[in-house]
Amino acid sequence: MNQVVTAFAPASVANVAIGFDILGFAVDALGDHVQLRRLPQPEVRVKAIRGVVEDLPLEAEKNTAGRALLALIESRDLPFGFEMEIDKGIPLASGLGGSAASAVAAVVAANAMLPEPMTRIELLKAAMEGEAVASGSRHADNISPSLFGGLVLTVGIDHPRVKQIPVPAQIHAVIVHPHLQVPTKQARAILSHTVHLSDFVWQTANLAGFISGCYTDDLDLIKASLEDVIIEKQRQVLIPGFAEVRAAALASGALGCSISGAGPTMFALCLESDAAAVRDAMVDAFRSQGTETDRWAVSLRSSGARVVSST
Ligand code: HSE
Repeated sequence: MNQVVTAFAPASVANVAIGFDILGFAVDALGDHVQLRRLPQPEVRVKAIRGVVEDLPLEAEKNTAGRALLALIESRDLPFGFEMEIDKGIPLASGLGGSAASAVAAVVAANAMLPEPMTRIELLKAAMEGEAVASGSRHADNISPSLFGGLVLTVGIDHPRVKQIPVPAQIHAVIVHPHLQVPTKQARAILSHTVHLSDFVWQTANLAGFISGCYTDDLDLIKASLEDVIIEKQRQVLIPGFAEVRAAALASGALGCSISGAGPTMFALCLESDAAAVRDAMVDAFRSQGTETDRWAVSLRSSGARVVSST
């Protein structure tokens, strides 16, 4: 039986403009590592948090990865526990699914220590308990892609059903992270709880159009559908330069451009051949607001979380 296991879980772009709380894709270019060491009693100790974020709770109940492990121990009635070290590769409050990635890496590492491994849906449920600590609500649009890889739709909360959506091979994602922080709880708190019927119809059509376009390789339908008419207009005030960055991406050939998760990171989908121009345009638009960025151009055919070492 493994005594020490390290797992990696990738960052993710949630919502993807039209699938608030239900759609997301994994971004393999960055992520979190979690190392677990078996403890003889069923408890969770957070030993260290390193990397691009260090100032996170060391109390297991308040730590997203710690809470996910506690949920896993409870669901399996495990007689043993875990001492955990977290290496953060995802910036705090960036909109890149950092809390989800830590929770996912923790449950994937723990799973490699179980006498009988859990299913990925069971791991998803445990990780969702961790995500709720950070965002204040249970949703799986970062957890599912980080765990499964690729573009993922999640239907349901208590009994989640997960579908990996095929993405046309020529579509790539540009991800631009401005050096700002937007806490997810804050970005959720500003959202209206009611939606105009016409916006509901428009957004539903866009989600259906985007998913259909992905299944049928219909780039024109994907481009026409990749527009958020509900959330973006409420959250853009949290991202100085949002309108300029989006306009620059679209002018450079992007199929669509919106907020990654709760922001402030922005993403664009585009043809691979346009990715460099779209990236440069978005970076320049942020820079003209006085905001520096990190940026990535990636395929959407990414892998999900995985064990990277075990002894
Ligand atoms: N769907 C979530 C949101 C992702 O936009 O608030 C961030 O956790």
